[in-house]
Amino acid sequence: MRYKLPPSIANLSPQKGLRILWLLRKGTRALPQALEALRAELGDMFVIKLGKFERVVIAHPEGLREALVEKREAFAWRVGDEPIVRLLRRGLLVQDGQDHLELRKILEPSNRRRHFLPKLSELYPLILPLFDSWREGGIYDMLVEMRKVALIAFEWVYFSHDVRGELHQIWKPILNVISYIGPGLWLLWGASAPPAAVQVIDAHLYTLIQMRKRETTPPDDMLTHLVREVSEDDLIRDQMLTMLIAGHDTSTASLAWALHLLSIYPEWQEKIHEEVKGAFGSNLPAPSEVTELPFLDAFVKETLRLYPPIHAGNRLVRLPAEIMGYSLRPSQKVLLSYYLVQRHPDFWEEAEAFRPERWLEPKGKQNTFAYVPFSGGPRMCIGAPFAQVELRMILAYLIQNFRFLPVSPIQMHMGATLEPYPGVKLKVYRR
Ligand code: HEM
Repeated sequence: MRYKLPPSIANLSPQKGLRILWLLRKGTRALPQALEALRAELGDMFVIKLGKFERVVIAHPEGLREALVEKREAFAWRVGDEPIVRLLRRGLLVQDGQDHLELRKILEPSNRRRHFLPKLSELYPLILPLFDSWREGGIYDMLVEMRKVALIAFEWVYFSHDVRGELHQIWKPILNVISYIGPGLWLLWGASAPPAAVQVIDAHLYTLIQMRKRETTPPDDMLTHLVREVSEDDLIRDQMLTMLIAGHDTSTASLAWALHLLSIYPEWQEKIHEEVKGAFGSNLPAPSEVTELPFLDAFVKETLRLYPPIHAGNRLVRLPAEIMGYSLRPSQKVLLSYYLVQRHPDFWEEAEAFRPERWLEPKGKQNTFAYVPFSGGPRMCIGAPFAQVELRMILAYLIQNFRFLPVSPIQMHMGATLEPYPGVKLKVYRR
């Protein structure tokens, strides 16, 4: 077989190559710009090779379809000795084959809408005191506030645990492990061991496991499903940590981006406020109904299009494969760039513009793999049904009761998730 290799940075003219290197030198905040410049110069599939670092980037919906569905057997999700694997060990996200299938079967029932909706209805008493503590006209960092909300929501729904009293203990350890799994120097020099802070999170998770095992009438949630079906505590811990990290850092980033966008598009804040008022008056927005609001829905979809929290999927090539006509060899590392695909000019009109109304317009046939905030195929995000309701429920409540004003500009930061940097400071007024 003749190899047809994707174009690489090395194919650029010295001038263009230097410009990209200059951007890459600036670190993770210039990564989005660097990736967009590379796509513009090299096309929809290209190689980034810098010293020991090498990744094949796939930036086209058809490339995603091939990698996620048609030729998925050629790829492994467990990408060698990387920080995410060291941290999550045998967690669902970094498992392959039969082990992955069996875990997914255990975790799936608690991620079904009819299963988690009753738990979400019980969430308001836990999160409302946080919003009530906001001072009139006070400035709050929504990246911090929404992380609190997302942690409380996650632990309530999946562990039936009110984590508010322990937030101060696990807060820094969680930020530490998130920074550990994000892009960093390990890409060049190899991964170090997880930070010692992970022991604090582990102690929290193992305590919950022990408590659950002692309960005579345990609640019907993910933790109970795990305790019933998995005999090893370490394997239960790996799933709990995987779901905790994947299930709150993403919602945190999405909520923070959405609030930032609401603050700079006040007309959308008013539109959605009217819509929520029309549907719920001054009652609490019902989780079972928040997905029925077209303006809120369009706003959330557009937020996730331009700012997908999981901006890329990491894969390891296991078997020789052809993607978009290019050859991939075993042991090559691949980045499925959800970020670039969702801003692809051939698939999105005014791709870089924030235009929620695009979701309200009658559309022709859209390529399914052009919109992939939760990825696609059989391994798409297991928590997507929960996240879809959670985001809309929290935003509906906040827009119903508060008005948000911007304070300072922000940038994108491609860390473990695509985060607003240095945070989202907003001025808050009660309606
Ligand atoms: C806005 C919120 C969320 C977004 C945008 C998001 C996005 C994604 C994406 C893109 C993937 C695929 C990653 C890849 O290709 O490597 C993924 C996988 C995953 N997500 Fe989410 N996610 C969100 C919320 C959640 C929640 C709430 C949970 C759990 C409660 C969760 C748990 C997971 C897990 C365990 C996987 C791995 C699934 C597997 O490999 O079988 N996510 N997510």
